[in-house]
Amino acid sequence: MYNSKIVGLGYYVPDNVVTNDDLSEMMDTNDAWIQERTGIKERRWVEDKTGDTTSTMGVKAAEIAIERAGIDKNDIDFIVFATLSPDYYFPGPGVAVQKALGIKTVGALDIRNQCSGFVYGISIADQYIKTGMYKNVLVIGSEVHSRGLDKTTRGRGVSVIFGDGAGAAVLSREEDPTKGILSTHLHSEGEHAEELSLIAPGMGKRWVSDILRDNDPDDVSYMPHMNGQFVFKNAVVRFSEVIMEGLMKNNLQVSDIDMLIPHQANLRISQFIQNKFKLNDDQVFNNIQSYGNTTAASIPIALTEAWEQNKIKEGDLVVLAAFGSGFTWGSVVIKW
Ligand code: UT7
Repeated sequence: MYNSKIVGLGYYVPDNVVTNDDLSEMMDTNDAWIQERTGIKERRWVEDKTGDTTSTMGVKAAEIAIERAGIDKNDIDFIVFATLSPDYYFPGPGVAVQKALGIKTVGALDIRNQCSGFVYGISIADQYIKTGMYKNVLVIGSEVHSRGLDKTTRGRGVSVIFGDGAGAAVLSREEDPTKGILSTHLHSEGEHAEELSLIAPGMGKRWVSDILRDNDPDDVSYMPHMNGQFVFKNAVVRFSEVIMEGLMKNNLQVSDIDMLIPHQANLRISQFIQNKFKLNDDQVFNNIQSYGNTTAASIPIALTEAWEQNKIKEGDLVVLAAFGSGFTWGSVVIKW
């Protein structure tokens, strides 16, 4: 058995900055409400003229991660792509990455898992590397939320939170069992699937022919729905549990954490966790203020920024933790 190690990180966000004041021109909201409830000051939303999509942004993040990994793109053995906002209903964006990078016929796996998508993706990559099946795995989290949000007052409880962007990591084989990914922990609770969901265009309830015929502008099933307070309450409990699970599995204490990268769901959730675990500001990284909640992209973007800012050093104990729609949640414990 081998360990896996993150050897390259990259991210890409669209240039287009959308401030809270910009949103208040689209809907009944305001900067004070958004900052107080979420910590978000601005986010990036794609523009048609740039051609940015979930897959193209994922490719840009991946190219940076591969270059930093110091490997040739042809050394990538497998691609894992996490998103809830794919370019196409099918096929998923994994194959678009394979094509864009010009990597021959390596496997490309598309996963969902929403806000936990990157953590699930890391866990998948880690298992393949552990067993020796693959040596280098590319994991991408990327989202274009902005094209699917209800930007009227009706959708303000959701639309002010989400941003677009992509992050990527290259995981490679690590021979030293004390280094790299020490453990991953995945959970779900499907009982609450509808509490944070986008029901259409699934095939579960309606015929596409009926949808096209009805063409109903009031059909909110095409818009994301979130029971915000319920999700918030579950998030703080599950974040705490899954961080502790990861630490206990490795006989570590909260005080051993050098850097916690929480999924950027809401600054108040991150602060709750920080206070609960009595972590100082240097031990928790947040960038939701600048990017909003980018779902599967939030952890790789934050991890990359933390690394670029020299906030993660060799030998550090780094913990990734996520919670979101499904509900799904998980953590990754890393000896950097
Ligand atoms: O990433 C996946 C996981 N997601 C999360 O973890 C998100 C968890 N939930 C949250 O972050 C918070 O619940 C929200 C930020 C979504 C909402 O904050 P809240 O403090 O729970 O507000 P609320 O939904 O209870 O709404 C409070 C009030 C309501 O008005 P009334 O009924 O009190 O008159 C809303 O209509 O705020 C109103 N409101 C807004 N006002 C201005 C809701 N959205 C907005 C808005 N601007 N954008």
